Amino acid sequence: MVTVFNCVVNGKEVEIGIDPRESLLDVLHDRLGLVSVKRGCEVGECGACTVLVDGRAIDSCLYLAIWANGKEILTVEGINENDGSLNAIQRAFVERGAVQCGYCTPGIIMTCMEALGSGRTYTRDEIRKLISGHLCRCTGYENIVLAVEQAMHELNDDGIIVPEINPVVDPVETKGCNN
Ligand code: FES
Ligand code: FES
Repeated sequence: MVTVFNCVVNGKEVEIGIDPRESLLDVLHDRLGLVSVKRGCEVGECGACTVLVDGRAIDSCLYLAIWANGKEILTVEGINENDGSLNAIQRAFVERGAVQCGYCTPGIIMTCMEALGSGRTYTRDEIRKLISGHLCRCTGYENIVLAVEQAMHELNDDGIIVPEINPVVDPVETKGCNN
């Protein structure tokens, strides 16, 4: 059986036929070639597959693609600055050495994108809670926390506007806290 997947992905309208049982992870990674969306545990435990759907961070492995119909999806491929350069979060990860193998990185960055939409600077403990749903086997997390903190200060203190995403984010309600 084939059904229509029709939504906006990284600012572009997409309409393709899919199996209604396909996850959003399958469609984004396998059909649309968005390889930043990583396949990890596939049971909602590792956070590697995190993307934004209408501004909320979700585990795309647990989300049927058809549920995204009519919605806006954002992945790491869609967050660069207009001139194609890295955005502040990506830069902070590089500058802080928060990336090693990089498998967990896109998912963590998308969770941070959701949080940055609030315009609020989280405390270090809140950042730890925010990313607690993401497993990283390489870094020990410390540099990731520092990178997120750096990006939040840069964006919030300097008044730089991040892409408009869901502003209703509380650290205790984020995907990262509930995993
Ligand atoms: S692959 Fe989706 S949470 Fe692990
Ligand atoms: S950098 Fe390798 S899993 Fe996080």
